[in-house]
Amino acid sequence: MRVLGIETSCDETGVAVYDGEQGLLAHALYSQTALHAEYGGVVPELASRDHIRKLLPMIHAALGQAHTPPGQINGVAYTAGPGLVGALLVGACLGRALAFAWEVPAIGIHHMEGHLLAPLLETPAPAFPFVALLVSGGHTLLVDVREVGAYRTLGESVDDAAGEAFDKVAKLLGLPYPGGPALAKLAERGVPGRFRFPRPMTEHPGLDFSFSGLKTAVLTTLKRAPENPQTQADIACAFEEAVVDTLTIKCERALQKTGLQRLVVAGGVGANRRLRAQLQQRVAQLGGQVFYPRLEFCTDNGAMIAFAGYMRLRAGRRTAPSAVSARWPLDSLTVP
Ligand code: KG4
Ligand code: ZN
Repeated sequence: MRVLGIETSCDETGVAVYDGEQGLLAHALYSQTALHAEYGGVVPELASRDHIRKLLPMIHAALGQAHTPPGQINGVAYTAGPGLVGALLVGACLGRALAFAWEVPAIGIHHMEGHLLAPLLETPAPAFPFVALLVSGGHTLLVDVREVGAYRTLGESVDDAAGEAFDKVAKLLGLPYPGGPALAKLAERGVPGRFRFPRPMTEHPGLDFSFSGLKTAVLTTLKRAPENPQTQADIACAFEEAVVDTLTIKCERALQKTGLQRLVVAGGVGANRRLRAQLQQRVAQLGGQVFYPRLEFCTDNGAMIAFAGYMRLRAGRRTAPSAVSARWPLDSLTVP
């Protein structure tokens, strides 16, 4: 079975072709970062229009790269939510139109399901069941994953997502959008220990997160500290340490609580080097194993959507919505 995948939930246009026997045959990604940079964040209307411009030529190119004429495509998977509704509609309309024309099924994929299955594109792939830490610009979730389509949320952020916190603190530090990677780079030059920020909600036993207070703590420190490049780097370093420690503590607890040994980390913040190194070390100490997608598949991409579409079509499991949903709880995918 060969599936075309389309991702347009935010500011990345992603297209891929996945084959059940041969694996990933082609993938292409176009990032709109430069388009939105001057506004300091994603402008939804501009994002939708740019997806319209890029999507069809990218699909042509990906099919060419995969040596796949449309007649060899057995299904079209597109991101149906959560995300920016106008941007989602571009991928959904084109995906469904192509599927109709090619007389194959179209399947709407939950963006976070795409992220959490992305590590399965790697070798060795994690076996089910596992705990997934999904850390992106819009979500921070800990999920108990039993199999494709069986998800139970163990904890989530009650306010800002981890990536959102990175982006907001980066803005406070005067770094360009998107802030996460820029902040991580600045943090490399920071002296650990000069500043210390709280590890929010780690005193409580639950698995929920809260990152908005951290942003306020950074702002207060910035106002008091001397203004110079080293201070900025030191604050970036302390902030990154606080987020990474918090995520690590909650992951350890999630593994202990579920009795599972495999942790899968995905979403844009999963590209963070400090997070990867620390989780690797601490989960190994618990006798467990951590799995990541390759760096380019941590952030939004079409490969994870093509793959999730393949897994669902193969299992005969379709998702409910016929169009798109800006908000869509992951747990609602679970068939009782
Ligand atoms: O999954 P993703 O590409 O898009 C969403 O679905 O949100 O995640 C993007 C988020 C942004 O907030 C970005 O700043 C953050 O991931 N990010 C990082 C790093 N690379 C991307 N945060 C920290 N360190 C990084 N290296
Ligand atoms: Zn994402």
